[in-house]
Amino acid sequence: MVTLHLSLMVTIVCFSLFFLAHSVNSNACQDERLNFEFCNLSLPYEERAKDLISRLTLHQKAQLLVHDAPAVERLCLPRYQWWAEALHGLANSVGRSLHFNSTVPGATSFPAVILSAATFNQSLWLEMGKVVSTEARGMYNVHQAGLNYWSPTVNMYRDPRWGRGQETPSEDPLLSARYGVNYVRGLQEVENQPNRLKVSACCKHYTSYDLDRWRGVNRKHFDAKVTEQDLEDSYQPAFRSCVEEGNVSCLMCSYNKVNGVPTCADQDLLKGVVRGKWGLNGYIASDCDSVEVMHLNMSYTSTTEDAVALALKNAGLDMNCGNYFRSYLENAVHMNKVDEAVVDDALAHNFMVLMRLGFFDGFRDSLPFGHLGPADVCTQEHQQLAVDAAKQGIVLLENNGSLPLSQTIVHKLAVIGPNANASETMLIIYAGVPCRLPHLCKHFTKDQDRLNLSLPWNQEKLVLEVVNAAKGPVILVIMSGGPVDLSFFNDSGIGALLWAGYPGEAGGDALAQVVFGYYNPGGRLPFTWYPQEYVDQVDMTDMNMRANSTRDYPGRTYRFYSGNSLYQFCHGMSYTGFTKTLKFAPSTVFVRSSASFHISSVNSTQSVDISTVDCPRLRMHVIVELTNNGSTVGSHVMLVFIKPPNMVGLGGLPNIQLVDFKRTEVESGKAQQVSFDINVYKHLSMVDPKGVRKLILGDHALIIGSSTEQQLTHQFNVARASSKDQGTMVALLNETFFYDDRCGLTALVVYGGSVRVKIVGVCPPTLCDENTNLALSTEAFSQIADPAAGKIFVDYAT
Ligand SMILES: *[C@@H]1O[C@H](CO)[C@@H](O)[C@H](O)[C@H]1NC(C)=O
Ligand SMILES: *[C@@H]1O[C@H](CO)[C@@H](O)[C@H](O)[C@H]1NC(C)=O
Ligand SMILES: *[C@@H]1O[C@H](CO)[C@@H](O)[C@H](O)[C@H]1NC(C)=O
Ligand SMILES: *[C@@H]1O[C@H](CO)[C@@H](O)[C@H](O)[C@H]1NC(C)=O
Ligand SMILES: *[C@@H]1O[C@H](CO)[C@@H](O)[C@H](O)[C@H]1NC(C)=O
Ligand SMILES: *[C@@H]1O[C@H](CO)[C@@H](O)[C@H](O)[C@H]1NC(C)=O
Ligand SMILES: *[C@@H]1O[C@H](CO)[C@@H](O)[C@H](O)[C@H]1NC(C)=O
Ligand SMILES: *[C@@H]1O[C@H](CO)[C@@H](O)[C@H](O)[C@H]1NC(C)=O
Ligand SMILES: *[C@@H]1O[C@H](CO)[C@@H](O)[C@H](O)[C@H]1NC(C)=O
Ligand SMILES: *[C@@H]1O[C@H](CO)[C@@H](O)[C@H](O)[C@H]1NC(C)=O
Ligand SMILES: *[C@@H]1O[C@H](CO)[C@@H](O)[C@H](O)[C@H]1NC(C)=O
Ligand SMILES: *[C@@H]1O[C@H](CO)[C@@H](O)[C@H](O)[C@H]1NC(C)=O
Repeated sequence: MVTLHLSLMVTIVCFSLFFLAHSVNSNACQDERLNFEFCNLSLPYEERAKDLISRLTLHQKAQLLVHDAPAVERLCLPRYQWWAEALHGLANSVGRSLHFNSTVPGATSFPAVILSAATFNQSLWLEMGKVVSTEARGMYNVHQAGLNYWSPTVNMYRDPRWGRGQETPSEDPLLSARYGVNYVRGLQEVENQPNRLKVSACCKHYTSYDLDRWRGVNRKHFDAKVTEQDLEDSYQPAFRSCVEEGNVSCLMCSYNKVNGVPTCADQDLLKGVVRGKWGLNGYIASDCDSVEVMHLNMSYTSTTEDAVALALKNAGLDMNCGNYFRSYLENAVHMNKVDEAVVDDALAHNFMVLMRLGFFDGFRDSLPFGHLGPADVCTQEHQQLAVDAAKQGIVLLENNGSLPLSQTIVHKLAVIGPNANASETMLIIYAGVPCRLPHLCKHFTKDQDRLNLSLPWNQEKLVLEVVNAAKGPVILVIMSGGPVDLSFFNDSGIGALLWAGYPGEAGGDALAQVVFGYYNPGGRLPFTWYPQEYVDQVDMTDMNMRANSTRDYPGRTYRFYSGNSLYQFCHGMSYTGFTKTLKFAPSTVFVRSSASFHISSVNSTQSVDISTVDCPRLRMHVIVELTNNGSTVGSHVMLVFIKPPNMVGLGGLPNIQLVDFKRTEVESGKAQQVSFDINVYKHLSMVDPKGVRKLILGDHALIIGSSTEQQLTHQFNVARASSKDQGTMVALLNETFFYDDRCGLTALVVYGGSVRVKIVGVCPPTLCDENTNLALSTEAFSQIADPAAGKIFVDYAT
């Protein structure tokens, strides 16, 4: 009987195989007669993955751990291609899962990431991710795309010469993190199903990777020397947020070494940090050929099998883009360099991601997203969002009043320069085929880093000739992924200057709208615009963020740069005027760490190691009123920076540090309140030279606004909370209290200073755990302050 049943199954399998094996981008488990447990939707993913793995031979396992996973006919597993890119829209390329043909001829192409980041608009990034995942599902359903996308790139834009800077959001860790989290969520999230995936995103390239080819140093040999301090507060935060806040389902290690160890072989950084500390729920992929590079180019291992073993076993790599696992893994197992159980763990990580995508759920039509198709790609709405992203990102750097051009008076406009017909420039790296070609205004391909910041070819000369010949105002539009040398600008007679990144398929529309004032520009520079001298002074291979005057090193990015930038990080002008008024901010923030009080004292300045605090979610509110007192509607990016107190022993503090931002649109003559909810420990803490995050006690300054606009400064004090036994403290009307489960006062944020609050006795034990910030009005506060119940006593002495 059993034999008969099996042979029958083989017949079925072979029948379905004809279709499946040759069609990429198909779901597995399509034949309902298959009784495999891994196809059983009522079993948990772990069990299904385990079942599937138990049915594979070692040879098959090795084949399935690479990006181009072959079909397994016996199990009706179709071939699966893991590699596709969607940095700023779906991209096609030979050998990847996605291709265009006349069924779906193109997809929505957003601006290069650096310009989208310049919008500082978080909901836009989320929407962009949603559009891309919708289009991906639409294409998957007609077999033209896969479900795994190796995007976004969240590396910090460390050096202005980096040829791939335009692929990243920013030089700032917070901005990069926010971009990554929103884009990932837009790609991945399925409403009300937290563990399902719409498509799988991948944050890359982990870590400290930001050099391609510069003066004989290339990314496949580069050993990035990174201090613990820089790693913790500059290179890692965006990746950490991807995992912890974005729930990203994949992280990709890079080519380079960090402090001597190739990142894809780094036990500490991958297994220890990414899977261990951050708790990645997903798989770790290598950059394409990283494992090979480790052996061939870096000579890091003496045999190919050792390279495989290091990556798979030590580091916990799950997916090899490349051929090494396919070619050498079996042998590595036979040589006892890797246990088969390790291979199974890696497979489980990969398969579970496919399960969360619904890949093993059978026929796609009946599944979520099964209704999407070609009609959902390049919709009017999606293309509108591409225009939005471009116009919101464009930065007005200078304006002598020439802009906006009059919509009625200007009848003739000459568009001059190499980008006058810039279809390709606008689209840039990893581009797909856009829904339509941009029609305003040839990019210099950048697989290599720049040597200087000059405009290429003779563009500077051309600009100056145009200015001389022009009868009306001259507007210079720079399309670049980073700063260019504009030292000629000041005496040139140019009326206005716009930076437009690489604006994507909608670049022409977006620029026209900005130039003629149909849209009021509100973008901000996501990078420091260094002068040319900077690159003469700084070695591109120097990973240090902090300035060092002993060796004449100016430091990197607005957080540490000690020189004068041409345009500062976050610079950006508007056609209207905005004023800001501070409405609400704390005067004191009381904090306490756990029983053993990890407070170190250096020269009487104290700091708290934030890993020891009781209430890590402690937040403070800041409210600013924003008034548009100009004559046109406009969007304003409100920026909140922190300047910590100086502390001996905590060297290398940033000049200032961005802790929050919000883009808000305000009508002319109107005002609006903009509020912020800032996590005290996460965002106000600073990293010490050993890489430990500490909150410094003392006077902090909140600085609202960049240095080229109206700036508000607010001082507040961070102090140690007294324990409940220590009696009274002073507070105002709005308080935020936190209690730990031992029911002592853990933290208190005080907004002002005239009402005495006395804390005695016990309190509800769960307040801190529930992600609540118990902001109490006076009334509410007095209600729960119930002396009879022995909870909280409040003494309202004024
Ligand atoms: C799927 O698993 C459930 C739970 O173990 C089981 O009751 C059911 O019979 C299985 N379905 C099939 C088709 O095997
Ligand atoms: C486009 O490609 C898909 C997947 O390979 C295929 O099914 C479809 O027939 C192709 N469309 C045309 C018009 O060739
Ligand atoms: C992250 O994923 C887990 C399940 O894997 C889920 O419980 C959690 O809610 C998710 N978090 C967010 C912010 O979506
Ligand atoms: C890496 O090594 C391979 C094989 O020796 C060689 O072909 C390739 O050019 C090297 N790549 C780099 C970037 O040096
Ligand atoms: C602009 O470039 C595109 C593609 O290279 C070309 O088809 C088009 O004719 C050019 N337009 C003008 C006005 O030169
Ligand atoms: C800048 O570098 C480019 C090559 O990247 C070179 O052609 C150009 O001459 C350099 N300009 C200056 C001013 O050094
Ligand atoms: C123009 O001159 C001002 C004042 O000297 C200077 O601050 C600014 O950086 C210069 N701008 C450029 C683009 O060189
Ligand atoms: C702005 O600069 C342009 C030159 O591009 C000049 O024609 C115009 O008069 C200037 N406008 C003002 C208000 O200075
Ligand atoms: C600054 O550079 C000097 C000279 O290279 C070096 O000895 C010193 O340790 C550096 N200081 C810091 C804080 O890195
Ligand atoms: C404390 O400050 C004094 C004077 O500024 C300095 O000499 C001393 O080294 C400092 N102590 C520590 C532990 O940093
Ligand atoms: C942010 O982007 C969304 C989507 O384009 C847009 O609707 C919204 O108005 C933008 N917000 C601001 C303040 O510009
Ligand atoms: C602070 O208290 C005042 C007066 O009770 C109230 O109007 C205001 O809304 C409160 N603000 C917050 C952020 O709770």
